[in-house]
Amino acid sequence: MTFSGESLRYDLRDPAIRSDPYPVFARLRREDPVHWSPALSAWLLTRYDDVRRAHVAPELGQGVPDKYERARSGAQNMSAYFRELIAQRRVQPCDDMISRLIAARDNDEALSEDELVASCMLMLFGGHETTTNLIGNAVHALINHPEQRAKLIARPDLIGSTIEEVLRFDGLSNSSARIVVTDHELGGKRLEAGQRVFAMINAGNRDASQFDRAECFDIERTPNRHLTFGQGIHFCMGASLARLEGRIALDTLIRRFPSLGLIDSDPPEWTNAMIMRGLRRLPVS
Ligand code: HEM
Repeated sequence: MTFSGESLRYDLRDPAIRSDPYPVFARLRREDPVHWSPALSAWLLTRYDDVRRAHVAPELGQGVPDKYERARSGAQNMSAYFRELIAQRRVQPCDDMISRLIAARDNDEALSEDELVASCMLMLFGGHETTTNLIGNAVHALINHPEQRAKLIARPDLIGSTIEEVLRFDGLSNSSARIVVTDHELGGKRLEAGQRVFAMINAGNRDASQFDRAECFDIERTPNRHLTFGQGIHFCMGASLARLEGRIALDTLIRRFPSLGLIDSDPPEWTNAMIMRGLRRLPVS
């Protein structure tokens, strides 16, 4: 079944969708899993298999449309910053990641100078907002599922599977962006080279064809093959670090403040972003 753009929209300007996009994801998965969004001028993929494949499919690439002028100049500034820092570390190495990357560059020529700068930028971007959002989303999910929170307090050994379930149930990777490289068909639709695709990770993570009781938050879920860190050669480089940080932060927080609650008169505010899902504010009592 298909439907018109009006009847089913994934519109992040709507605060209700920002706060709970999952009902729209469920309809998209069911009714139009390869959905053209005129507002976003992009395809939205919502089924687990399509989302997973979008990360590795040769007919989709990671190109970025060149209209992002502000992003370009910001990236240039950041690259200049790192070039200066690299020059300093070259003269005076210390026990940090940049000095080690420089050693790999200078000793084995494992990295070109540009790759060295790009790696620094990628790590700063990748590690900056992600873990913050993981912690916020985790606290939000546990507050909203008191029985799961009580279980975690009683059984701290479940912290690892709790983090995995937060990553699946309300992960911070709302979507991955891709550009169609070659014309191809998907789910009966024609995707044309140059068009934009959003592989909706959080929708794939609730696909009932992959997860038992996909809509339930279950901190003991196993297996839990969520797509939140991506797939294939671009699989998140910081996944282990993020998991560790998430475990330490949530474990400490939940032990120190076991009865955190939301404030009815001051509800959480979600960010308005396609790629990242996170809380702008999470007032708690
Ligand atoms: C819970 C936290 C995190 C999540 C959910 C996450 C998610 C992701 C995803 C989905 C990708 C693949 C993007 C794509 O294929 O388009 C990715 C790539 C990447 N992430 Fe993370 N990330 C997290 C934390 C981090 C941290 C802490 C770092 C670094 C300190 C990091 C560094 C990177 C890098 C460098 C890449 C690019 C890998 C490549 O292209 O080969 N990430 N991440």
